[in-house]
Amino acid sequence: MGSQPQPSIDLSSIDIPPPTTLEQIRTSKLRPFGPVLSGIDKQLRSGKLYVSPLGLSEDEHDLTFHGGPDKAIHQYCSSNYSFWHSLYPSPEILAKFVPGGFGENFVADGLNESNVCIGDLVRIGPAGSTLTGGANGCLLEVSLPRQPCFKLNQRFGIKNFAPRTHQEAKTGWYYRVKEEGWIHEGMEIRIVRRTQPKWSIARLHHYVHRDTKDDAVTEELAAIEVIGNECRKVFIKRLRKIQSKNARRSEAWVPFTVKSKSLETPRIVRLELERVRKSESPEKIDAGSHAYIKLPNGLRRAYSVVRGNTDCFVLGVARDDSSRGGSTYIHDKLTLGDTIGLASIGAGMSRDQMASNHIFIAGGIGITAFLAMMERLSNINQTFHLHYAVREASEVAFTDLLSRFSADVTIYDKSKGQRMNIPDILTNRVWNSHVYICGPQRMIDGTVEAASAAGMTSDEIHYEVFEGADTTGDPFTVDVLSNETKGPLEVESEQSLLDVMRDAGFDIGSSCGVGNCGTCRVPVKSGRVQHRGTALTEIEQKTEMLACVSRGIGHIVVGLPE
Ligand code: FES
Repeated sequence: MGSQPQPSIDLSSIDIPPPTTLEQIRTSKLRPFGPVLSGIDKQLRSGKLYVSPLGLSEDEHDLTFHGGPDKAIHQYCSSNYSFWHSLYPSPEILAKFVPGGFGENFVADGLNESNVCIGDLVRIGPAGSTLTGGANGCLLEVSLPRQPCFKLNQRFGIKNFAPRTHQEAKTGWYYRVKEEGWIHEGMEIRIVRRTQPKWSIARLHHYVHRDTKDDAVTEELAAIEVIGNECRKVFIKRLRKIQSKNARRSEAWVPFTVKSKSLETPRIVRLELERVRKSESPEKIDAGSHAYIKLPNGLRRAYSVVRGNTDCFVLGVARDDSSRGGSTYIHDKLTLGDTIGLASIGAGMSRDQMASNHIFIAGGIGITAFLAMMERLSNINQTFHLHYAVREASEVAFTDLLSRFSADVTIYDKSKGQRMNIPDILTNRVWNSHVYICGPQRMIDGTVEAASAAGMTSDEIHYEVFEGADTTGDPFTVDVLSNETKGPLEVESEQSLLDVMRDAGFDIGSSCGVGNCGTCRVPVKSGRVQHRGTALTEIEQKTEMLACVSRGIGHIVVGLPE
């Protein structure tokens, strides 16, 4: 008899904690905070304050990340600060870990991320009474775990502090207002009803950030309506992916037609693809994603999505002189109305949400990896700058999209002798900047070297090759371990391991074909490997290889992906 997979954490019911006291109430006006406006610097208030559906009177929010009915009020447990003291004992940081440090409205002890559950109804009012509203206080509902943004890093001067807060489940939580009323410090905070005793704030963080693979939990959380939209949509999106993966098993390639095709530059085509059978609710495609498509001539390729949704999107495709047939076919043969199959839209390079500023370095077609990210950053008021190198002005692609960000874009025209001084750019970066590179290998190598010399750590450097990934090399042989082991198979100089394994009948997935995405990874059982591509970390390279670009040395033994 089959058994259900066990959840990765204890999901037993959590008891309601005893009532506690509202120690402090804090509010703020929006003030400049680095390059943005923020209401994080909340001041202590005394006396009566009115709570309405948008929060406390005189409290202002940066609506990009905070505020609104689901984030009307933020509460933080005062004893969390002693935890942070023990973790960051240096005197200058210590002084910042005091009540109000997290930009909370309510400071109280006794309620924390492990004993407060989503949907809890919480009364703030005079002790010993059950009345709510008006002079009797207000009634609140726990709506969301706080998702800390990069501002916390700046606030405490600690890089990557924000993700640490949800790893430790010490983020605080938000309330929506169910009943308005007057409150003041010293009132009682009491949980009066609990409807979701399994789902503490800490457990939600676990399933938002760490265990993202539990399909049963995803389905359960996607259905809990009391979870605020910011968090619930994470589970709804995940659930849709599970459903579409299941659907794809019966329809491997989703048909799209070429809706429009035009030349962006003499060497770059703009291709708009539209789904033949429209879906009910197309989803916006994440910035930086790749579409893995099958061309009418049977070739399979991955290209960066410039913009669009899952029913209609735009790709940019450069003519590649060393093309293996994909880009020349698209440039020379593909016409309006042709049918193209879409296998998947996969994640590519993504922005680091904890960075305070983003530096994009693009060469040629590499620009396509960044356009959607720039649009997203602009929409959420985050700062970035694109440095874009072209051989001559006529090679600047997607000028209509770039014109929106002209103050944040520098174009270097080689024909006019303009050179991108990458060491200068990186040396003079603002605090907590991340750099992203998409272009030829030499540009990536030069930028990575300059970034290291400028003191940037490897997690602040992100890159993706989009030209000239070499898949050829010395021949080698391979045994493939499976139910029916095959080998030795010969991989000739011009072949990739991926080609040879597929020819031998093994169903190995692939996406980018140039070592960026990791779709084609296979376990290495024995032998030496010449690793290429960027998708595997050094640790992963000890046990895996990318079948599309990496090569064995002599003889190797590989397994099949799980
Ligand atoms: S197919 Fe993307 S890394 Fe191999």
